Amino acid sequence: MPQDSAPPLPRDTTAPTAAGPAPGSAFDWLDTARAERQRAGLVRALRPRPADCPLLDLAGNDYLGLSRHPEVTHAAAEAAQLWGAGATGSRLVSGSTELHARLEAELAAFCGFEAALVLSSGYAANLAVVTALTAPGTLVVSDAGNHASLIDGCRLSRARTEVAPHADPEAVRGALAGHAGRALVVTDSVFSVDGDAAPLPALAAACRAHGAALLVDDAHGLGVLGDGGRGALAATGLAGDGDVVATVTLSKSLGSQGGAVLGPARVIEHLVNTARTFIFDTGLAPAAAGGALAALRLIGREPGRPARAGEVARELHRRLTEAGLTAVRPDAAVVSVRAPSPEAAVRWAADCRTAGLAVGCFRPPSVPDGISRLRLTARADLTDDQLDQSVGTIVATAPPMI
Ligand SMILES: Cc1ncc(COP(=O)(O)O)c(C=O)c1O
Repeated sequence: MPQDSAPPLPRDTTAPTAAGPAPGSAFDWLDTARAERQRAGLVRALRPRPADCPLLDLAGNDYLGLSRHPEVTHAAAEAAQLWGAGATGSRLVSGSTELHARLEAELAAFCGFEAALVLSSGYAANLAVVTALTAPGTLVVSDAGNHASLIDGCRLSRARTEVAPHADPEAVRGALAGHAGRALVVTDSVFSVDGDAAPLPALAAACRAHGAALLVDDAHGLGVLGDGGRGALAATGLAGDGDVVATVTLSKSLGSQGGAVLGPARVIEHLVNTARTFIFDTGLAPAAAGGALAALRLIGREPGRPARAGEVARELHRRLTEAGLTAVRPDAAVVSVRAPSPEAAVRWAADCRTAGLAVGCFRPPSVPDGISRLRLTARADLTDDQLDQSVGTIVATAPPMI
């Protein structure tokens, strides 16, 4: 999500006036907000899916098809039976089990970092790092295409945030050069809207030149990029670097739920002592920890899965662009296809759905450039027939492009 894309709230028409408080219910303003969303074609609604959903899923982030893998679901169920349905408390009180410790050790080892800390979500992990590693006077340089959780981390921190143009290491260098003192550069490894990769080596070089730390959100890289899915940091030789911290989610390639921070042991120790989204949050549910650990071990045994996810993404991109659609070349497993307008994107996604294919639909305010798209996630477990069906449906339902 872009840095400044929070939906604007409607004007406050309920503020007291000289004539006294405005009449009506305290929530009347929500009707105005809804009407504005409707006018802009930007209404969102939940669509609960049944357990036996017949749709072919290119909308979720289950890149390796592990969320329903029997080894993963069995491990999740077993962990719930052994440790309980919930963690019972925050990690520093009663919510740290040996299972959490095992997951942290194996996750750090798999990705090539000294230490790891598991939190209840990737969102919480990003808030934890950005807030705990900054103070008033720290400069944070944040890519314009970063995920909402990094943006919110910047907003929560009391640091000065400078938004750098998307994937522009020279701009980052310039921002760092104008600052004396502590600095943190934050970026997604693979951007969630367009699926393009950040220029990590150049960003790391800029950080090194100015003594800045680098935080990389590898939510879309873990399980897809790097040798056997070890992530974008391993792929670029930055895993284990003393000045680099990564965050991951356990909810995409690992098919489970939760998040983690990976980095030097002294960073992890600092987070345990100071990160509010770690300290004041109930520990990750044992079932989620157990499921994620089983998925991690499975990826370690089956390195062909990450490679296949990338292959499916490239094939989707090749065939959709050959058919005349505009899609961004995928650096990982996200394939983004442009739509001419928000309304057309919504209709396109609905037509795909009617034809049996679930696709993501991204439109303002969730896109950095105001351009609406279909967002497809390539899954390692997609068969060639399903790939044919997906491409056929997306092309057959495509709106006329401007
Ligand atoms: C780039 C990125 N970072 C962080 C997150 C948040 O992770 P989680 O869903 O585990 O909170 C997401 C999830 O959508 C994401 O795409």
